[in-house]
Amino acid sequence: MSPRIVLVVVSLLLSVALGLTLSSGSETGARNAGDDEVTIGLSLDTLKEARWQADRDMFVQRARELGASVEVLSANSDDTVQISDVEKLITNRVDVLVIVPHDGTAMAKAVRMAHDAGIPVIGYDRIIRDSDLDLYVSFDNERVGALQAEYLVENLRLPARIVRIYGAKTDNNAALFKAGQDRVLEPYIARGDIEVVHEDWAEDWRPENAKRIVNAAITAHGNRIDAVLASNDGTAGGAIQALLEEGLAGRVLVTGQDAEVVALQRIAAGTQSMTIYKPLRTLARGAAELAVRLANGRPIIARESTHNGAIDVPSVLFDVVTVTRDNIVDSVIADGHATYDDVYRGVPEGERPPRP
Ligand code: GAL
Repeated sequence: MSPRIVLVVVSLLLSVALGLTLSSGSETGARNAGDDEVTIGLSLDTLKEARWQADRDMFVQRARELGASVEVLSANSDDTVQISDVEKLITNRVDVLVIVPHDGTAMAKAVRMAHDAGIPVIGYDRIIRDSDLDLYVSFDNERVGALQAEYLVENLRLPARIVRIYGAKTDNNAALFKAGQDRVLEPYIARGDIEVVHEDWAEDWRPENAKRIVNAAITAHGNRIDAVLASNDGTAGGAIQALLEEGLAGRVLVTGQDAEVVALQRIAAGTQSMTIYKPLRTLARGAAELAVRLANGRPIIARESTHNGAIDVPSVLFDVVTVTRDNIVDSVIADGHATYDDVYRGVPEGERPPRP
């Protein structure tokens, strides 16, 4: 943990003990007189999934509102590129680094390089393992997995046979989603109410890799599959393509995550059963505010911590929501994450829920 954070955490513990916040800045991290203009380096794994483009845009917008500038680089899921992106941002003397690691372990080197240059590092959405990471800002990812599995055990006719598609092995979140799912499924598996007939990890979260996993499951088990526990909407999309080819789409429950518009359309049409909505606006704006505060040496309130294999990283974790056919309008549409017309484009007027 960098000296800056130790100071902040100690002062925070003191302030909590004293019931005061020792900051002299406004709560949002807005610039104060005498604050230099902050430059943030944002290093992304990829912009392939729709969510990362939204994260980038909302993060940059909030940073600008706070008087900060952001240099964005995307590594296209290549670790060597991401390390050289971080080297570039350090050479450009950014004040704080915000990283979505492609490989949470490979990027430990990036944290060391940044600290050697006196630059604090925030892990955005995904943690960086085995390093002295300063701050982790994400959603409660174990809860994401638990809610996905809870949906299945509450909606499946038991006993049931399921296929499990985990995310990228390089992504620590994939392990957290699986851990949350395992916690819920274990008693059902132990009783024989749920049988996992096929399971695998989808490299780089690629939909085509998920499709291959379900193709293999159908080859081995025919149509004797009751559900696919897919860890995000991208892999759910790949799974549903495989199910469509076998005429099984809509008859097999399929989970997801990210509330992508295409997934919401599938839920409205009935080929996907649910997704997990993670309010990206809250994460992106919150992370931008925390980045500016960190760059200005202001205290940060991190109520949680997450062990990354080396330390307990101070963490800010936001909550998530299960979205099904029944609450699309009241959740993602009400929150402005998606529009009614986009979601129900393929659904005949008469079969749509009332407009909000
Ligand atoms: C995870 C992220 C998910 C998911 C996935 C693929 O780390 O939390 O929202 O989409 O990456 O990008």
